[in-house]
Amino acid sequence: MTTEQSPALDNLLTESRSFPPQPEFAAAANATADWYSEADADREAFWAKQAERLHWDTPWTQVLDWSNAPFAKWFVGGKLNVAYNCVDRHVEAGHGDQVAIHWVGEPGDTRDITYAQLKDDVSKAANGLLSLGVTAGDRVAIQLQMIPEAIVAMLACARIGALHSVVFGGFSPSALRQRVDDADAKVVITSDGQYRRGKAAPMKANVDEALEGAGSVEKIVVVRRTGDDLEGDVPWSDGRDVWWHELVDAQPADHEPEAFDSEHPLYILYTSGTTGKPKGILHTSGGYLTQAAYTHNAVFDHKPGQDVYWCTADIGWVTGHSYIVYGPLANRATQVVYEGTPNTPHEGRHWEIIQKYKVSIYYTAPTLIRTFMKWGADIPAKYDLSSLRLLGSVGEPINPEAWMWFRENIGGGNAPIVDTWWQTETGAIMISPLPGVTHAKPGSAQQPLPGISAKVVDDTAAEVGRGGGGYLVLDKPWPSMLRGIWGDDQRFKDTYWSRFSEQGFYFAGDGAKYDNDGDVWLLGRVDDVMNVSGHRISTTEVESALVSHHTVAEAAVVGASDATTGQGIVAFVILRGDAAEAGDEAIQELRNHVAKEIGPIAKPRQIMVVPELPKTRSGKIMRRLLRDVAENREVGDVTTLADSTVMDQISKGLSSGSDD
Ligand code: WTA
Repeated sequence: MTTEQSPALDNLLTESRSFPPQPEFAAAANATADWYSEADADREAFWAKQAERLHWDTPWTQVLDWSNAPFAKWFVGGKLNVAYNCVDRHVEAGHGDQVAIHWVGEPGDTRDITYAQLKDDVSKAANGLLSLGVTAGDRVAIQLQMIPEAIVAMLACARIGALHSVVFGGFSPSALRQRVDDADAKVVITSDGQYRRGKAAPMKANVDEALEGAGSVEKIVVVRRTGDDLEGDVPWSDGRDVWWHELVDAQPADHEPEAFDSEHPLYILYTSGTTGKPKGILHTSGGYLTQAAYTHNAVFDHKPGQDVYWCTADIGWVTGHSYIVYGPLANRATQVVYEGTPNTPHEGRHWEIIQKYKVSIYYTAPTLIRTFMKWGADIPAKYDLSSLRLLGSVGEPINPEAWMWFRENIGGGNAPIVDTWWQTETGAIMISPLPGVTHAKPGSAQQPLPGISAKVVDDTAAEVGRGGGGYLVLDKPWPSMLRGIWGDDQRFKDTYWSRFSEQGFYFAGDGAKYDNDGDVWLLGRVDDVMNVSGHRISTTEVESALVSHHTVAEAAVVGASDATTGQGIVAFVILRGDAAEAGDEAIQELRNHVAKEIGPIAKPRQIMVVPELPKTRSGKIMRRLLRDVAENREVGDVTTLADSTVMDQISKGLSSGSDD
């Protein structure tokens, strides 16, 4: 960069640790270093080769049509059935007896479902939906906890060309209603109740409340899960409501899958926007499945028939769509699906499951890793985790110390960790190490995958140099990219394509930097960037510096207005299980620690010790609410918090606070 203007984002934290892959791992890895050069030489040919891993009923005539940007068409003219690709073809290839899903219920009940059974289940459910009058192009809303029927329902929709819109099981009636109305869903699939921390809580009752007077909904299909454990009757409306088992069990297990156009819509998934109205992110079939399957193969090094894979996400999030349902099943994975929370009935539940099923690939979120850190390393140490050969992380920047903890305490000190950056909108992983190739650096997502192009640019759209920070953009279309926002093309253009419209870049909303090797580091949402005395400082870097102190398990950092410096850095920290109460001295030590790690400019003005942090239900920290606290404002809208009492706990603790 030659301009004198201050950088879009300062680069403060440095990391020198690096871990090359073990030679045996590299030798057997699915993805090799030459994939980068192959993809660079001819991107479209590279993607065509990935698409050929799927079964197409009609081949495509053109790989990419970008003439009507930003509305992409991939594998133009091609036809396929997504559910056939995820289920039937494996049975036809002789793998019907392979377990697709080792399902573990929260109360301890289990089910093993083979690909042959899954094929029957999906076919019956598809016939069931058809019998209700659902046809290709219709929308089906699904609000279910993590039970096999959730996956079966999604695949049944895909099989008949209906779009599913999965709504997270913990969302309120009004959130469900908003999503049902926006998509004009014809059918809603839910359950009688769900187990949460050992108790049966109603689901159908909430759905009924949500759908009172909802004009589009003709049928509600109800999976019986909690049965007699649920107190009181399941509210029922004759004629509208139907039990899943009554509808599905009676259906024939034969269903001829129809081939749909590559651009046939597959699903809508709502993600919250800056305004109140959630955005219905639209994904289509051929390109989406291609990239979901490709990334699951390359990034997780998945070996069908050998690995036992576990992604801990919920199907209510995109990670559950791409890395529980579509990617793994397209690749013939055997996977664990767990219904409950990680500490029910005890804090070693995940490790117990890994030990029992010999899980070899474990994909989770930084928020959970930091929770495990808080609970203590002695808990996983009680279990045999030696089957694990690869770990993955998604959803937030993973702090280098959390990365190291994960590697040491879960990965046996040698399992590669893939830190995967992507979004609901990107549909599949975009930036990540390749586990058999990349020399991994704790905290960095490192390089765009072969076939993907991403850049870090400044305000003028010029790429920043090594050591520079700015905006993360995607400068070339990719197969699993969103095809729009449901019913709102203008919002699609305004939200993602207007910031760098001249260049035609997709702007993801995240800040990032290049380190001196040219590796990418994600620095959090640009809306969260702090401006301290003219320095643009990323919340992520200060948080990582705090977490690198041995007493800190989690940290959230915000900028609060400051008369002298513009903004001052205010940090909220959760201490580790074994750390003592933080007195003034300990707080001072933490402030100095940040100054030492990343420089005096980033020294927090204030550090507050809190029992919990406000998080969304998918585990992302809601810094907006902490900013309200830091600026002594009334706390804003808390309806999307996972635990609505957290803000009270924080405010209460602060009156005995630690401001210096
Ligand atoms: C953040 C989840 C840093 C980022 C798949 C992105 C990450 C948002 C990472 C999308 C990562 C996701 N490192 N940040 N590895 N992965 N993010 O739509 O801010 O729920 O824009 O998709 O999560 O969240 P979403």
